[in-house]
Formats: sequence, C-alpha cells, structure tokens
Amino acid sequence: MTEQKTWSQRFESALHPAIAIFNASIGFDIELIEYDLTGSVAHAKMLAHTGIISTEEGEKLVAGLEQIRQEYRDGKFQPGIDAEDVHFAVEKRLTEITGDVGKKLHTARSRNDQVGTDTRLYLRHQIEQIRSQLRDLQGVILTIAQDNVETLIPGYTHLQRAQPLSLAHHFLAYFEMLDRDWQRLGEIYQRVNISPLGCGALAGTTFPIDRHYSAKLLNFTGVYSNSLDGVSDRDFAIEFSCAASLIMVHLSRLSEEIILWASQEFNFVTLKDSCATGSSIMPQKKNPDVPELVRGKTGRVFGHLQGMLVLMKGLPLAYNKDLQEDKEAIFDSVKTVKGCLEAITILLAQGLEFRPQRLAEAVAEDFSNATDVADYLASKGVPFREAYNLVGKVVKTSLAAGKLLKDLTIQEWKDLHPAFEADIYDAIAPRQVVAARNSYGGTGFEQVRLALKAAQERILVN
Ligand code: ARG
Repeated sequence: MTEQKTWSQRFESALHPAIAIFNASIGFDIELIEYDLTGSVAHAKMLAHTGIISTEEGEKLVAGLEQIRQEYRDGKFQPGIDAEDVHFAVEKRLTEITGDVGKKLHTARSRNDQVGTDTRLYLRHQIEQIRSQLRDLQGVILTIAQDNVETLIPGYTHLQRAQPLSLAHHFLAYFEMLDRDWQRLGEIYQRVNISPLGCGALAGTTFPIDRHYSAKLLNFTGVYSNSLDGVSDRDFAIEFSCAASLIMVHLSRLSEEIILWASQEFNFVTLKDSCATGSSIMPQKKNPDVPELVRGKTGRVFGHLQGMLVLMKGLPLAYNKDLQEDKEAIFDSVKTVKGCLEAITILLAQGLEFRPQRLAEAVAEDFSNATDVADYLASKGVPFREAYNLVGKVVKTSLAAGKLLKDLTIQEWKDLHPAFEADIYDAIAPRQVVAARNSYGGTGFEQVRLALKAAQERILVN
C-alpha cells in the first residue's frame, strides 16, 4: 500500500503501511455498515430539511447511500484496508457514485458522533433480538415445567441432598433469572436509545442542524444534552456488557447442572444424539459439549465487561482513539450470547431426556425427608429445635443400621417420641414432602401450578 490519504492537505505523506493496518478498524467495524448507512441517510435528510444542503442534493445522497446498501447486500461492496474504517469506506464509495455531492455528506458531522450513532443503532437491534431469544428459551422452559410439575428431583444445598423438589419448580427458577435478563435489557435499551448525532467532534457545530429531526428519523427517543458526553459516553456499552455477562452467568449455571445430571454419578438425564458428541478414542463416551461450551464461553463475555471498564476509566474527555476498541468487545459479546442462547434453547427443546425412574429412586434413597419429620413433631407441639435434635439422632442411628426413615417400624417411631403415629409414613413419602411445601413461592405442586400459570401469562403479555 503506497497511497493512504484520507484527511487534509496538512499531511504530506501517506501513513506507514504497518501503521495503516494497525490503525484500521474496517476489518471488524464493517459489521456496522447497515447502521452507518441508516445513520447517514438520516443525517443527509436532516441537512436537506434544514436547508444546509439542497433538497436535490439530499435526495442524491440518500439514493447513493441506498445503492451502497444494495451493493453490500449483493456482495459487491467489499472495502479493503485502505478505507481505514467503515465510515470512510462509505463516504468514499458515495463520492464515486454521486460525485462532488458525496463530499457534502460529512457537513456538520464528525466520525465521533457518527460512530456513536452507529454503535447505538447496532446495539438497539441486537438487544431486540436477544430479548426475543430470551423469550424463546423461556417458552421452552415453560414447556418442560408444564410436563414435569409432579416429576420429583433431589434439591441440593452445598451440593448435598437437601429437600426434594418439583422438577418444574427447578426450571421455573431459571425462568425467573431469564426474565430479569429480559427486563434488564429492556431498561438498558432506554439508555442505548439516545442520539449523539450532531454532537460533532466534541463541541457541536456551527451549522443550523436539527438534532431532534435526525433523532426522530432514527427512532431515538431523545438526544444527548451535552456534546462532550455524547461523543465519549460508553456507559450504554458497559451496561450491555454487564447484562450480557449476567445472561451468561445464568446459562452457565444451567449448563453446569446439565453436565452434572448427564454424568453417570447423577444419571438424571440422557443427552440425545443430536446434541451430544463422542470421543475420538473412548467409544463408550457421550459428551455434553453444548453445555460445556456455554460454560466455557462465559469467560470471554466477562472479559469483555472488564475490558470495557478498564478501557474507559482513564479516558480524558472527549473522544479518544481508544474507543475504537469497544467494538470487538461488543460484537463478540453479542455473538457469544446469541450463539449460546440458540444452542441452549435447542438443547432444552430437543436434546434432553429426563429419566423419571432414576429421579424417583433418587428422591427415595436418602434422608432429604428429615426436615419433614421435625416439622411433623413441631406441628404436634414439640418445639422445633427439640424435634430437630431428635431427628438428627434418628438419622444417625438409621445410617448406622443401614436403614432409611421409611424403614423404621411404628414401634421404633413411637419409642423415639410418643407423638408419632401411623401417618408419619405419609408425611415422609417424597411426593408428600414436596406437596406439603405449599408456601408462596415454594415447591408444593399447588404453588408450582400457580407460578407456572403466572409465568405463562407474563411472557404472553410482553
Ligand atoms: N473507527 C473509529 C472508531 O471506531 C471511528 C471514529 C474515529 N474518530 C477519530 N477522531 N479518529 O472509534
């Protein structure tokens, strides 16, 4: 590359080729092209609307920009490194198409407010798509929940068997997490949806522009009130990275559970062949690659959040070229979150088979009904702490005898405490243990059915 002159006559020589490459963002910011064109169309219309350029010039610019859009979609516009970035690439092509009129597009605008506009338009679109993917995943979760209100699964704390649960209740917990993600993105959208266009390089412009006009054309709900803030604010990108990270936290926790459940040790689910992979050497293996990859990809999204925070913390006002570094972080977070949401949704919709028999055995083979024995006594007037200590003793002696609570004879129960009666066996049966937790938000089947209904309504309304 010998000739690389994009800016003014102030410069006598072209950029060093290696520096040109180092400086260029076209390799990745081409991702913004559709948004750049849309932003430029609005800017051109605003210039014509305010009389800064003629109506005819405005129309030529818009037609030229739309031609570039078509060329790009047809694969005919593929700018190379000499364009430096997507903004220069478009302007150069526009001038080729429209002649000198093309050179008027950048009146009353800087790449600084331009790139801010593009990034916001891009993120706005991506947020809409991610929110709709979240809703799809929530829908699949509700289907699983619907089918499994009375399927029992051991519930854990400290990864130790704690109390049995309705499998639907377990999945509805993820529904709630994803619902917060959906809401959070909706809130962030409000702050993404503000126009920096017209802030100029940093100080506004000498031209009689109408920022509200271009903002309205682009469906922004408002404009930045301070030009310095408008060109250098990336809070919206950090907020997005944070929301993306939380989505990944949730997907990663679900993934971890699926990985555990699919292990021979748990054996709660079978992964269908369409969503599992084999080993190149161990023929017996069936690996949970999808949830493992989701768990693994979580790190890069967290990394981008950290990267964005560090990128911003030392920047003096206003625009600094450092800000060019926001793009790959944002693009990769978007791509990763979307890819993971899609894969997990497919996995849950068609790749998981729960093993009801094994789940039923699992909830019956342990002491996760011990709290219910204590509750039984407490409901008969024994102070809870006393009952708790007594049941601890029962668990200890039963463990030593190789028995479960359900194996104790009525006489053994009565010897422990006279308050025990024959209905203790019902009280500690796994199904009853779950059904009895009928407090609001609990795992009792009645509560789960109510929660399920409310969840179904929630995703219909929004
Ligand atoms: N490619 C640049 C970016 O991504 C566009 C803005 C450049 N502005 C400037 N003053 N050099 O940030």
